Amino acid sequence: MSKVIFIVDDEKAISKLLKYWVKDKWDYETEVFDSGETLLKRLDSKKPDLLLLDIMLPGISGLEVLKKIRTKDEQLPVIMLSAQGNVETAVDSLRYGAYDYFPKPIDVQRLEPAVKNAIKNYELTKELENLKESVQKEYSFDNIISADKKMQEVFKLVSKVLDNDITVLINGESGTGKELIAKAIHYNGKRKDKPFIVVNCASIPRELLESELFGHEKGSFTGAHQRKLGKFELANEGTIFLDEVGELEMLLQAKLLRVIQEREFERVGGTELIKTNVRILSATNIDLREAVKTKHFREDLYYRLNSFPIYIPPLRQRKSDILVLVEYFLKKCNQKLKKDIKGFTKRAIKYIYEYEWPGNIREMENTIERCIIIVENDMIDVEDLPVHMRTNEEASYVEQEGGLFEGDNIIPFEKLKEDSIRHALEVTQGNIVEAAKKLKLGRATIYRLMEKYKIENRSND
Ligand SMILES: Nc1ncnc2c1ncn2[C@@H]1O[C@H](COP(=O)(O)OP(=O)(O)OP(=O)(O)O)[C@@H](O)[C@H]1O
Ligand SMILES: [Mg+2]
Repeated sequence: MSKVIFIVDDEKAISKLLKYWVKDKWDYETEVFDSGETLLKRLDSKKPDLLLLDIMLPGISGLEVLKKIRTKDEQLPVIMLSAQGNVETAVDSLRYGAYDYFPKPIDVQRLEPAVKNAIKNYELTKELENLKESVQKEYSFDNIISADKKMQEVFKLVSKVLDNDITVLINGESGTGKELIAKAIHYNGKRKDKPFIVVNCASIPRELLESELFGHEKGSFTGAHQRKLGKFELANEGTIFLDEVGELEMLLQAKLLRVIQEREFERVGGTELIKTNVRILSATNIDLREAVKTKHFREDLYYRLNSFPIYIPPLRQRKSDILVLVEYFLKKCNQKLKKDIKGFTKRAIKYIYEYEWPGNIREMENTIERCIIIVENDMIDVEDLPVHMRTNEEASYVEQEGGLFEGDNIIPFEKLKEDSIRHALEVTQGNIVEAAKKLKLGRATIYRLMEKYKIENRSND
């Protein structure tokens, strides 16, 4: 569904131009209003996704309109436009909750990313609010947080294998939650009161894996001082979870196949046939079919393990989980670390949302924990994120009259005034007259603001 932008400007030429960009060029739906009154009336029946609002209007002023909107709606992004183009109006706009401010003539090159960012942020905020409510109610697998449609499909599949013993192969990238799903299958199924045994086939040395899985008899090899029960015996009547099953060597693949088919095996160095009643779940983050093709994995075993495949998509393909997981881990890590970090700034959320998360949910959990440890106030900002997550951070600052813009990002507006002055003084090497000219401010105002923000002018030293 296409997004809707309302444009409010009494100057026909400007609203026409804005409409041309917004509708014809950027492909948003638009409605144009020539006064604050007509806009406010329309807002009773329809809510846009963004508002472009002129400050100088014939009846009630843009700032008044903004104030009125904010009494009912704190989130709707409003971008203010003004012909006066000075820092004072910009700051006033911000104080009343504008998302951004643009002096006229409007620089459309800069307006476009501002509009896009604002709409995206707004969408995220709304999504987060909706999800927060639904998450708690709907999904009942303990500790598995998700609101994404693709994960709903996964849960549906999980619910189908709870009450039977079908062999399930869980496939997914590292950190996507394969073990969590395996646990959910066991602890919500009919074997839940019996053991759940995990064997990580990649982390146990090959020589030991056979004995680990099937046990050994006393004296069966050097160091085997006594009989040892293997995981298959320990898991009897319960579930065994073979993690990274693709790492099994051929000999063990054959032995595993026999367990699946005959439900029996012998301990290493033993002759006694051991009967077993276990449910087998396995997981892999490699493409087992490919391993079959290259003859690293037995085809017959593959089909046995894969009777019921469940694929967990990576986090980057389930974007709508990102925010709920962020909330969840924020709470979880706050509790764990006995902290009370309130959340992430909108800018930080944008980075989190756009990041690829190659290590998936595990990476996110670790990242949030790290942020909570290092952050110095109660909101986590972009600077607190790991460096590799903010490669755009060093984006060049672009100077513009009345303000600063950083790549596609808008500098938090509370800081605009101070930053503008600091920046102007920097580029003019402390020349107040030049800085005042750049900012379209009087010298006295600059001095006053420098005092207010405790800005020292190096050239005066
Ligand atoms: N949907 C989720 N909700 C809450 N926590 C999750 C979710 N998915 C994964 N986690 C957490 O992320 C971490 C990684 O999950 P898990 O160990 O199940 O992943 P995995 O796919 O087995 O990873 P690997 O391939 O690296 O073994 C765990 O701490 C797990 O609790
Ligand atoms: Mg795992």
